[in-house]
Amino acid sequence: MMVLKDETFKDLRDFIYDNTGIYIPDTKKYFIENRLSKRLEEKKIGSYEDYFYLLKYNTDKNELKVLYDKITTNETFFFRELQQLEVLVQQVIPRIKEERKIQTVKIWSAACSTGEEPYTIAMMLMDNPKTCSLRLDMVASDISDVVIERAQQATYGQYSLRNIPEQYMKKYFKQGAGTNYTLNSDVRTKVKFMQLNLLDDKKIRGFREMDVIFCRNVLIYFDKKAKLKVVTNLYESMKTGGYLFIGMAESLHDITRLLRPQILGKTVVYQKA
Ligand SMILES: C[S@@+](CC[C@H](N)C(=O)[O-])C[C@H]1O[C@@H](n2cnc3c(N)ncnc32)[C@H](O)[C@@H]1O
Repeated sequence: MMVLKDETFKDLRDFIYDNTGIYIPDTKKYFIENRLSKRLEEKKIGSYEDYFYLLKYNTDKNELKVLYDKITTNETFFFRELQQLEVLVQQVIPRIKEERKIQTVKIWSAACSTGEEPYTIAMMLMDNPKTCSLRLDMVASDISDVVIERAQQATYGQYSLRNIPEQYMKKYFKQGAGTNYTLNSDVRTKVKFMQLNLLDDKKIRGFREMDVIFCRNVLIYFDKKAKLKVVTNLYESMKTGGYLFIGMAESLHDITRLLRPQILGKTVVYQKA
């Protein structure tokens, strides 16, 4: 078993924080060991110090991508936090449609993991009589290239599929190998996927005039400073009057007052005034 010295833990922890916003406290040295020890073995790297230097001096360009894959938590599933999705389809989108008299809505799933969140949104909007005539301009992004590739393949196992209502399963999925199911192309083609780090101010400038942003269950991994930076970036990407959904257990209460919280149904939605 390789030893992770406290000093090297701090170097790696700070490197991860500066690059992703993910904050690993002093008490969680085991997190780095759990996530990275196998990778060092695979790469035949003899110490955490050597691995840190490889990252720091970027001598292996691919390794940063692998690091992002290893240290992110990509837990997600279809129809997660359904109350928010119902508020989106039944209240937010009809409101936007009515107020702005628009035919196209721009929606961004900003930490989409393997795609279940944006695909659920697309299916629900396609399926609802109030929203099915709208043209969807949907983009979904994540820091990890690995999850983006899996989202594009759109083949899912039972864990991801467990909350999908039967009628959606029948209408939008085809059974593949074993217990896996693949999403039909009429839903897949609605969402454009790309790799994006939410701290990357420059690249984020390409995301403009969003009517709705979903950024759920990712801010919990950041500290206050990184949260503020990301939320400010999202704010810049929204239309005036646009809406932001964060996870049901998350809050912007002590982060920023840039966005106005509103209670819709049983959930809080943030609006750009
Ligand atoms: C727990 S998943 C949430 C997925 C989905 N939004 C949901 O609620 O089910 C968090 C995702 O955030 C991504 N992530 C972490 N840091 C990020 C960053 N700095 N920029 C973009 N995505 C990031 C991770 O790769 C991971 O896929």
